[in-house]
Amino acid sequence: MPAVIVLGAQWGDEGKGKATDQIGQQTDLVVKFNGGNNAGHTVVIDGETYALHLLPAGILSEGVTPIIGNGVVVDIDVLFAELEDMTARGVDCSRLMISSNAHVIPSYNKLMDAANEKARGKNQIGTTGRGIGPTYADKMNRIGIRVQDLFDPEGLRAKVEAALAPKNKVFSSVGLDVLDAGAVADELLAHAERIRPMMCDVSLEVNTALDRGQTVLFEGGQATMLDIDHGTYPFVTSSNPTAGGALTGAGVGPTRIDRVVGVAKAYTTRVGEGPFPTELDDEVGEALRIKGGEFGVTTGRPRRTGWFDAVIVRYATRVNGLTDICLTKLDVLSGYETIPVCVAYEIDGARTEEMPLDQAGFARAVPVYEEMPGWDEDISGCRAFEDLPANAQAYIARLEELSRCRIQSIGVGPGREATIIRYPLLGD
Ligand code: GDP
Ligand code: IMO
Ligand code: MG
Repeated sequence: MPAVIVLGAQWGDEGKGKATDQIGQQTDLVVKFNGGNNAGHTVVIDGETYALHLLPAGILSEGVTPIIGNGVVVDIDVLFAELEDMTARGVDCSRLMISSNAHVIPSYNKLMDAANEKARGKNQIGTTGRGIGPTYADKMNRIGIRVQDLFDPEGLRAKVEAALAPKNKVFSSVGLDVLDAGAVADELLAHAERIRPMMCDVSLEVNTALDRGQTVLFEGGQATMLDIDHGTYPFVTSSNPTAGGALTGAGVGPTRIDRVVGVAKAYTTRVGEGPFPTELDDEVGEALRIKGGEFGVTTGRPRRTGWFDAVIVRYATRVNGLTDICLTKLDVLSGYETIPVCVAYEIDGARTEEMPLDQAGFARAVPVYEEMPGWDEDISGCRAFEDLPANAQAYIARLEELSRCRIQSIGVGPGREATIIRYPLLGD
């Protein structure tokens, strides 16, 4: 039975929450495999909007077991705030499980995130300020704090002390107050008993479910172009939101994966700093931002907007081995006479259809556009491909060709129901 990875094919906010909710309704487990509360995944059900940061979107579907994988970094305060918020809204959160190997975000790493950004000056990344980068850095440095450490108070105190000592030196050097290791450990220990019943071995849960013939969805945060290895480094997040991250972030082997779904917007957005070749830094971009409601779910920051960039989506197809694309927000593109699509880049006068070898080259990339004829009709009520205006159908066909992957579904509105399914994802 299928194991499906759902991930971002651009720079994030493609509509992974909606896609996960929709596909997740037919699955048994939804496992978040990377990132933390830097994510903001929106799901709209019967006109009710849910913004999820740390919890897997599967929590909204009855009968689904949501799991926070070992690849995730967990801010415990945010976890419980979000659980309380969802419970107050009538969502049953009792099935949530958390990997005992997941790392937690101690309060000092939020300060470190801010201190690092300040030190970068004009080269700042524009992080979400949630302590994500410093927590993954601690993990790699082997000084991280894991969920399982919350049940060994003495060991935890020693680990916090060791990790905090060098950070306190940084805090004093930039004029910030130093933190007390005992107080930080107490903050973490305060919720330990509430977490104990949720702890699991995510690899065992996932593989046992697959052995039983159940369906598992792996939900990615962030996106391919924000990947620490494959994205626009250093303007990236500190995890692997790509398909490989699903394997390491949940303890499942590549031979078990049946489908890799890349979620892509019918245009492009980006939050934070870094190169963005098709960016519209003008009134056309501003109009697209307003029309598409492009403001961050996590930080409220306006998203940068631009036309569809087929070079990066083709790259996402390759890096992730995409089997399907879930194209979102096509409805936002109604009303343009023509819609430019970036098919290649020109870098220092030479045309390329691939990502260049170096970031400096990518920063100089000038998009080569093809103009596709637009359409005026409101398509938000369309539920079959044939219902779409001919020019919208042609736009999809061209994007599919350029992306080298089939477009499995098309989003025409934020609601659960506002989707055109072209091919069944599961069971075909
Ligand atoms: P995620 O981070 O990938 O889950 O995406 P976000 O939730 O941050 O941003 C996507 C936004 O687009 C949300 O406000 C969604 O409700 C909305 N959305 C998703 N799919 C569609 C669609 O097909 N059409 C429209 N108009 N909005 C959509
Ligand atoms: P979802 O899952 C869009 C961006 C930040 C910043 C960079 C590094 O909702 O698609 P970080 O706090 O992770 O160290 O910030 O990555 N970023 C996102 N952009 N969507 C996200 O998540 C993002 N998560 C991080 O804006 O540029
Ligand atoms: Mg988002």
